[in-house]
This record gives sequence, structure tokens and C-alpha cells, in this order.
Amino acid sequence: MGSSYCWLSLLLLSSAILNIYFVSNSYIEGKGKVKVKVGWSEEAAAKAEEVASINCSNHGRAYLDGVISEEDGKPVCECNTCYGGSDCSLLSPNCAANADSGDPLFLEPFWMQHAASSGVVVAGWHRMSYVFPDSTYISQQLETHIRLIHRLTRNALTHGKRIIFGGGSTQLLNAALYALSANLSSPASVVAAVPFYPLYKQQADFFQNNNYKFQGDAWLMRNSNSNVIEFVTSPNNPDGNLREPVCKGPSARPIYDHAYYWPHFSAIPSPSDEDIMIFTMSKLTGHAGSRLGWAFVKDEEIYTKMQMYITVAEMGISREAQVRALQLMKTILHGDGKDLFNYAFEKMSDRWGKVRQIFSKSKRFSIQEIPPLYCNFFERVRGASPGYAWVKCEREEDIDCSGVLLAANIIGREGSRFNSDDRHVRLSLLKSNDDFNLLINRLHKLVDQEQAVSSF
Ligand SMILES: Cc1ncc(COP(=O)(O)O)c(C=O)c1O
Repeated sequence: MGSSYCWLSLLLLSSAILNIYFVSNSYIEGKGKVKVKVGWSEEAAAKAEEVASINCSNHGRAYLDGVISEEDGKPVCECNTCYGGSDCSLLSPNCAANADSGDPLFLEPFWMQHAASSGVVVAGWHRMSYVFPDSTYISQQLETHIRLIHRLTRNALTHGKRIIFGGGSTQLLNAALYALSANLSSPASVVAAVPFYPLYKQQADFFQNNNYKFQGDAWLMRNSNSNVIEFVTSPNNPDGNLREPVCKGPSARPIYDHAYYWPHFSAIPSPSDEDIMIFTMSKLTGHAGSRLGWAFVKDEEIYTKMQMYITVAEMGISREAQVRALQLMKTILHGDGKDLFNYAFEKMSDRWGKVRQIFSKSKRFSIQEIPPLYCNFFERVRGASPGYAWVKCEREEDIDCSGVLLAANIIGREGSRFNSDDRHVRLSLLKSNDDFNLLINRLHKLVDQEQAVSSF
């Protein structure tokens, strides 16, 4: 009895000593559940937490690299559109709902819910070299995780294809154009089916050379036997429809822009298995600011040329962007890997449902139809959830549809920017909750007014 009493006291004492030791030092779980002492990262983590805790009323954020307030020396709140005041709590009542850009902030709340698993601490000496140890510009771990995400979502067959990273998909679109147009017997016509994403024309005109010329609508070159390079945007920006190439002749070469080929925005009827497929983190995770895109390329020669383009342009993509992307991909793949996709689909589908419902009451405006389709990822037929509403003004006199919306305090993007007509206007559904809520509010008013007038 006496000796067991003695053992018990010893156990209690050692447990108390251990507790004091762990409480007085900060420890985190390392790999394999080994506790790792938090040392140099403690200060960085504390700064990150301090900035994250600045109150911006959920209508804005403060960032580590934001403008510093003269009052308290802390970064100031950067408020969402139409919100102001030092804590972003003031809504300007007459401010226009801005549905112009494709800024994918709809995913911000997901990452706030996953703050712990998605954050990274970047050491002062993190990958200072121009290259990785295998002399490439690419994190092999990131490549592996990207391939895993495609396997999970079943949106692309990546086996046997090489990968290239670019400064957003923006850079890769031009790298692909460069590679496909080099060494042709005659200059290529660059086309895309109307309505198309304006950057294709912008880049081709800006980086003009003797190898290609932008010629506009793909339908005009459909029967051409000359060299054609077609940007095939699937799903399409602005109308969200899945697309096939229009030009199919022996001298036609497609570049598949799959920026939106994720369960967020579209059913995935089958995996894409094309020669050049371009994806972007901007529309997968919503981190447009990290500027990271990737291309899968089947042909060795095209791959080498695209790689050369990236090397000459900027010697690979920022290592900080890559380590951050890796952490985000790991977070996505955690568990069964479906959380982000369920979240993104439900949110986009809800937004689309609201917009459709409003426009269904209108005779003055119509929006695109996207049929329900079987989705390989969800393994069921699912409805549409596009990133944009492609609105048409139906009244004969409304030839400037963006003007009509602007009069109702809504900023959209004119149809002519997509090589279409100004009877159309694109409304972005990808932006923050604040932007979307304001847009819905204004659309309701606009359509209610129409109904009130027609009931007289
Ligand atoms: C169809 C399409 N392709 C490419 C891009 C460019 O994306 P990134 O941010 O990767 O440069 C966008 C951006 O909105 C887009 O809509």
C-alpha cells in the first residue's frame, strides 16, 4: 500500500512537471505526431494572427502588406466595394453594384473556414535559388498534388502529358500560341468562337509577330484549309457553355482553355484528353493573386517550345506562389477531397438559382440556358452553376444593355468586349458575398419596376 502510494505521487509530480514544461513552451504537432518546438516562426505566426484579427466588420480584410494606419500603426481595413469607414461598417446607399470583373472572391469564406490547414509560414531563406534541386522551375510535390486533384475531379486525363507552370493561365495561353505557330509554312489565323474571352485577341494583337494574326470569330474560318489556331474555352467565358472546336480541318490546332472546367462551374461529363489543356488556380481555389496556372501538353516538341517561352519570359514561377499552392492543394485533398467542390458548387448553384429566378419574371431581359448534365464528379445529373450571367436586353430600343443596367446602378461588362453585340452584357457571379448580395438587390428592383410599369 505504502509503495503504490509512493508511485502514484511520483506519477502525479512528473505529470505536473511535464505540463508546466509544455505550457511554458509552444509546441505544434509535427509529422507522425512528434511535437515540434515553435521557435522562429512564432513571431511570424503572431503577426499573421494579429492582422487577421483586425475587425473589418466582415465587409473587408486587413493584410500583412496593407497600408499602415497613422493612428495605431496597424494595417488598415481594405473594404469591399460600397463599404467604408475605418472598420468597413458603412454601406454607401447609392453605390453601384459592381459585377464587372471575374475576381473569384466567392471562395474566400471557404479559406477562412480552413484557416489552420491552408496557411503557410515562409522562412526568410525559403528556396532562394533560381532552380529546384532537379534544375527545374517546378515543385515536384505541387505537380503530384495537381495531378491528384485532376484524378479526383475526373476533369482531365493527365497521364503521359507533361506539365508547365505559368504566371496565371494568361501567360500559358500566349506560350501555347507561340509554340503552335512557330515553324509553320504560312502564318496562322488565331480565332475563337463568339462570344469569347477578350484576352485572346488582346494578347495576339499586343505580342504581334509574323507567325500569326488574330482573325476573330472561329465560325468564319470553319472551312479554311490554312493554318488555324483556335482557343476553345470550355466552359466558355462569358456564357458558361461547354464547347468543342469549331475549326476541325487538318491544319486546325486547338488550345483548350479549361479555366472553368471544375465542378464549381460546370458538370464534368467526361475527362478532357486534349493535346494542350490549360488550367488555373485562379478559378480552382480562387487565388487569382497568386498568379499560378498550369498546362498539360502531349506533344514533346510543343512542350519544349512552351517551356522555352516561360524560361525566356521569367525563368519559372515564384517559389512562394508554388509553396502556397501546394498547401492549398493539400487542404483540398484532405479527407475525401470533396469539401471544396461541394462548397463551390453549392454556392455557385445557389447564386445562379437566384439570378435565374429574378430574370424569369422579366420580359425585358433574358439570360443563357445551360441544360442539366450528368457529372462524373458528383455521379449524378446536376444543374448549371456558371461563373457569369450572359444577359440579353430583349427590347428593340435597348441596344446598349450595359447602359440600361448602369441606369439601375449595376456595372456589367459590355457584350462588344467579347466580340458580341452590346445587346448583351456579362454579369460576374464570382465575386464576394457583399458584391453578389448588392447585385441581387439591384436586379430585384430593376425587374420589379418593369413589372410595376407593365401592370398599369
Ligand atoms: C477563360 C479564361 N481564361 C483565362 C483566364 C485568366 O486567368 P489567370 O488568372 O489564370 O491568368 C480567365 C480569367 O478570368 C478566363 O476567364
